[in-house]
Amino acid sequence: MADLYPVPPQAQASSPSRVTSLEAYASLCRAIAADPDAWWVAEARRRLAWADPPTRGLDGSFHDVVDSPVAWFADGRLDVTASCLDRHLATRGDKPAIVWEGDEPGTTRTLTYRELHAEVCRTANALAALGLRKGDRAILYMGMVPEAAIAMLACARLGAIHSVVFGGFSAEALRDRVLDCGAELVITQDEGRRGGRSIPLKATTDEALAGLTEVRHVLVLRHTGAEVGWQAGRDVWWHEAVAPAAPTHEGVICEAEDPLFILYTSGSTGRPKGLVHTRGGYLAWTSFTHELVFDLREDDVYACVADVGWITGHSYIVYGPLCNGATTLMFESTPLHPDPGRYWDLVERHGVTVFYTAPTAIRTLAAAGDHHVTAHDLSSLRVLGTVGEPINPEAWRWYHEVVGQGRCAVVDTWWQTETGGMMIAPLASATPTKPGSATLPLPTVQATIVDAQDRVLRGPGQGRLCLTEPWPGVARTVWGDHARYVATYFSQHPPWYFTGDGCRRDADGYHWITGRVDDVLNVSGHRIGTAEIEAALVTVDAVAEAAVVGFPHDVKGQGVMAFVVLQPGEQGGSTLEASLQQACRTGIGAHARVDRLQLVPGLPKTRSGKVMRRILRKVAEGDVSSLGDTSTLADPGVVDVILADAGLSR
Ligand code: WT7
Repeated sequence: MADLYPVPPQAQASSPSRVTSLEAYASLCRAIAADPDAWWVAEARRRLAWADPPTRGLDGSFHDVVDSPVAWFADGRLDVTASCLDRHLATRGDKPAIVWEGDEPGTTRTLTYRELHAEVCRTANALAALGLRKGDRAILYMGMVPEAAIAMLACARLGAIHSVVFGGFSAEALRDRVLDCGAELVITQDEGRRGGRSIPLKATTDEALAGLTEVRHVLVLRHTGAEVGWQAGRDVWWHEAVAPAAPTHEGVICEAEDPLFILYTSGSTGRPKGLVHTRGGYLAWTSFTHELVFDLREDDVYACVADVGWITGHSYIVYGPLCNGATTLMFESTPLHPDPGRYWDLVERHGVTVFYTAPTAIRTLAAAGDHHVTAHDLSSLRVLGTVGEPINPEAWRWYHEVVGQGRCAVVDTWWQTETGGMMIAPLASATPTKPGSATLPLPTVQATIVDAQDRVLRGPGQGRLCLTEPWPGVARTVWGDHARYVATYFSQHPPWYFTGDGCRRDADGYHWITGRVDDVLNVSGHRIGTAEIEAALVTVDAVAEAAVVGFPHDVKGQGVMAFVVLQPGEQGGSTLEASLQQACRTGIGAHARVDRLQLVPGLPKTRSGKVMRRILRKVAEGDVSSLGDTSTLADPGVVDVILADAGLSR
């Protein structure tokens, strides 16, 4: 087949992985399927350092998820950081654990496993002194500094539950999350740095916490040295609390199913929900997938350039790589600072072997010109990963040919905040690839495609992607709202987990993710709910109603289009546009922007008042040739005005 790329010899040769062919992959899948409990118990015992090794695999099932979440390794007990740190000290004490590259090229810092262990212990002692106990929640609102990973691990070591809030979120969004999870502690820094700019993290934290007495302490890392506001009694400097603390700490032993972290993500309705990931299963799944997909080798320099504020940063900068004893790079800057050669400069200077980024960055860099890539020595690279949104074949080929010089394995990894780790992805050492396809489900993953009538598609076909059997990394619940978890993921194609994604399977059994089929947008790899943007837009006084849809965007994957109905007597113009953008920035964060705005006299609604987004989506796509029947709308005339104003005709 012309579009099938064989596994590059370099990715296959001398692989330490057990899996160097499609046959070996298939036989691993069969071995697990034959007895998933036994296989996973053995795997988890081997892979993690347990205080009490588990004897049980999966408890519960997706059938029973209404009554109780599934559990993995339920009788096992562990300190997650013993797997990520302590047990590496004897063999990897002097190996770099975290290599940090700051916003300005060449600003670097390396923490060996021994140093990282000591810092995590100090921080755990400091957090304990501030009153953080097992089961308590701590919010982290930080940039990409090593202390973000240290703080996550220190919380984990205490048995506390961390919730990292991406540093681009607004004060309002931060406050919502603090309240939702009942955090008593917030960890932040004076300022973040990104792309030559400062991000006022402490000032935003102060705004978010104004009037809240529930948060007893704010631990503040000094990073840029900027002046910050200070609330005596509440605020504590990191260097004053952590530096003098003891560099040893006895990790708190937790149940495998105790929560490790909460991570908020957007859905098709309502406010973001806090997905709960637990300790044993999550760590086993991230460690397994990180090793298998990237074909991890002991001397790899592994760089995932995501942000710790998203699940990719949790699973594949911090937990998976550290559990595997890898050297993981943390990158504070952007692909464009100071120029579009920054990633490749990073690869060259650090000798990166495995590089993991998002399609939106690949498209941006491809557009900037090949000379930014070819100016650098990229011979260290072996595996190139992508995640976050569908990658178009042109971008895939550019990544493969220009960045990978045709000799690297490209792994397009499909997964979600909810899945904890990768689910459908090639194995760098084993799976022939096709540009644009995430290829095959990982061993253990049972992927099924159904049509809207819930019929299972066998063989080639396109429909909605479901996962039929629990895997160790699945999020167990939504924090404080298990009913919402069940309603969101298990009510559409029960008893299966519905991903929200569309998927096509070809004649070779390869999977092609077609994007969300719900009202979730994926803008530059950032997940945003249309409902969240609408809620922000209607906070503007002049706005009566708003409906938001996505449209295909060359670089961002999807752009945001807003249809806005103004209050009587109000007018459009640059002032209105500025206040709409500001409302998104205030309500959500700087990453939520309206790309296109259309003022409309009304929204197309059914007689029962439901907005027909299908019609708006067609308008946003600029193709209304197949609008279908609009005569059942409450006011069919509205559509004609919208089309005329958009310059479209049916
Ligand atoms: C959604 C999940 C997984 C970490 C980053 C995003 C889309 C993710 C791919 C891919 C096509 C992808 C899906 C998914 N997505 N990876 N390789 N190919 N689509 O996590 O914010 O939870 O978003 O991202 O639509 O449902 P997230």
